[in-house]
Amino acid sequence: MKLSYRFFFFVIYWLLAISIIVFKLLPPHFFDPITFHGLYRSKVQIRHVQFSVSSEELLRAVVLDAHGDHLHRNKSSHSILANAKKILSREQRLERALARARASIRRALADRRSNLSSVTADNGGDDYIPSGDIYRNPRLFHQSYLEMERRFKVYVYQEGEPPFVHYGPCKDIYSIEGRFLHEMEQGIGMFRTHDPNAAHVYFMPFSVTWMVKYLYTPPSKDLNPLRRFVSDYVRLVSTRHPYWNRTHGADHFMLACHDWGPHASEGDPFLYNTSIRVLCNANTTEGFSPRKDVSLPEIHLYGGEVSPKLLSPPPDNATRPHLAFFAGGLHGPIRPILLYHWKNHDKDLRVYEYLPKGLDYYSFMLSSKFCLCPSGYEVASPRIVEAIYAECVPVILSQHYVLPFSDVLRWESFSVQMDVSDIPRLKEILGAIPENKYRKLKEGVRAVRKHFTMNHPAKRYDVFHMVLHSIWLRRLNVGLA
Ligand SMILES: *[C@@H]1O[C@H](CO)[C@@H](O)[C@H](O)[C@H]1NC(C)=O
Ligand SMILES: *[C@@H]1O[C@H](CO)[C@@H](O)[C@H](O)[C@H]1NC(C)=O
Ligand SMILES: *[C@@H]1O[C@H](CO)[C@@H](O)[C@H](O)[C@H]1NC(C)=O
Ligand SMILES: *[C@@H]1O[C@H](CO)[C@@H](O)[C@H](O)[C@H]1NC(C)=O
Ligand SMILES: *[C@@H]1O[C@H](CO)[C@@H](O)[C@H](O)[C@H]1NC(C)=O
Ligand SMILES: *[C@@H]1O[C@H](CO)[C@@H](O)[C@H](O)[C@H]1NC(C)=O
Repeated sequence: MKLSYRFFFFVIYWLLAISIIVFKLLPPHFFDPITFHGLYRSKVQIRHVQFSVSSEELLRAVVLDAHGDHLHRNKSSHSILANAKKILSREQRLERALARARASIRRALADRRSNLSSVTADNGGDDYIPSGDIYRNPRLFHQSYLEMERRFKVYVYQEGEPPFVHYGPCKDIYSIEGRFLHEMEQGIGMFRTHDPNAAHVYFMPFSVTWMVKYLYTPPSKDLNPLRRFVSDYVRLVSTRHPYWNRTHGADHFMLACHDWGPHASEGDPFLYNTSIRVLCNANTTEGFSPRKDVSLPEIHLYGGEVSPKLLSPPPDNATRPHLAFFAGGLHGPIRPILLYHWKNHDKDLRVYEYLPKGLDYYSFMLSSKFCLCPSGYEVASPRIVEAIYAECVPVILSQHYVLPFSDVLRWESFSVQMDVSDIPRLKEILGAIPENKYRKLKEGVRAVRKHFTMNHPAKRYDVFHMVLHSIWLRRLNVGLA
């Protein structure tokens, strides 16, 4: 009996000892919640970018140090060691700050008594607090946004010259490329750091649209010059600076609205597979990964401006005589189906290939309840943002498209997402949406507008900040599981 007691305590003792050792050996991040529910409604994972090179550097310095005779140890090995330690602790500091941001976001999630979501006032100004149905979790988004404002720093690589780098289109369909670049380099400046060691992410400010304009020979379909440019750019910054190699580009981002953005990014395998790619062409069957990439809204600025008509949509009580509207070319796989079923078929559903002379595109949007937004050659369509501006509820007809800001916004609260196979029943489905549901959708559209608005200079919660926030989330490694 006595023996078995002793044996029992012996086992308990060793179990305890082993668990303490295991606990000590585990990386400090191990006990961060790996997944938790409620954030963006789906499971969320927290990954950690490994900063391997700095520790390698430290190791090298230590090895150098060990080789040198104690007496003959010279200044350079000393300074390498000191420098490596400094780099390491700087990175640790950065990572610790990010850990604090994660913790504070997590606390916001846990604090159910917090009153944030009950605040409804939107003075449209600096004290905007996200609330309401348009957000997956308004409190979480708010906290994450505040943490971004408090901490997030972007380093913009100086390498390269216009027209391909530091410059992009500021009008027409790919305008967001140039606008973002311009805002990042010359705008509010609050998120930009000139000290690369203080940065959380590194921006490679090239423009795929200008590459296509100046490097591509139509109609060759040869995209290799684009890939080569991107490849050369990555090689340039990765040999001149230590930052790319440290994470294989995981904390680097590029931004492209041109359809060929994803193809250009193939120029470097790590850029494609590891870096954050901010793309309008967010097609998951073409390699877009919502966990690390960011879907960029396409905003068509004819002549560089939003049409004045869209700036002042009609009052809420104005009647919208048309149930739905679409006009556009037969591009891609979905539109032919739409036009086959609905072109000139029904007076409530205004579906055109080309708008007849004398009819105005935006006037139709302003006088329709729903605006059909089928994908064309590419998944993104500028119609979505135009519909939001026109307070016309967007009907998303696309496949494999990751909608912009969908880790924060609840698209189903301000749009209708319809399966391509439902196109024949389009009128039936839209007609069956009850008036109060439609009102709610329209309210959602109005509420979400600010997140799709381009301002110059940028304003809080506008499209520039939303794109940056999407990048911030990826850098925090709070991604969709
Ligand atoms: C200092 O030490 C390093 C490695 O220990 C060596 O490569 C270097 O040549 C030394 N410099 C001088 C000035 O002795
Ligand atoms: C929440 O609101 C209630 C009443 O509106 C107030 O009494 C309470 O102090 C608020 N709680 C917090 C944490 O602000
Ligand atoms: C990064 O790695 C590449 C290839 O592995 C190498 O050519 C380059 O010199 C490295 N950059 C730095 C700053 O060490
Ligand atoms: C991305 O990674 C996959 C799998 O490792 C690889 O097959 C592919 O070639 C990579 N993509 C690019 C563009 O290098
Ligand atoms: C809409 O409301 C405004 C004031 O709220 C009113 O002046 C206007 O007559 C209304 N229009 C319609 C069509 O009911
Ligand atoms: C998405 O990518 C797939 C694969 O390349 C392609 O077949 C499909 O047409 C793309 N979708 C759109 C709307 O471009």
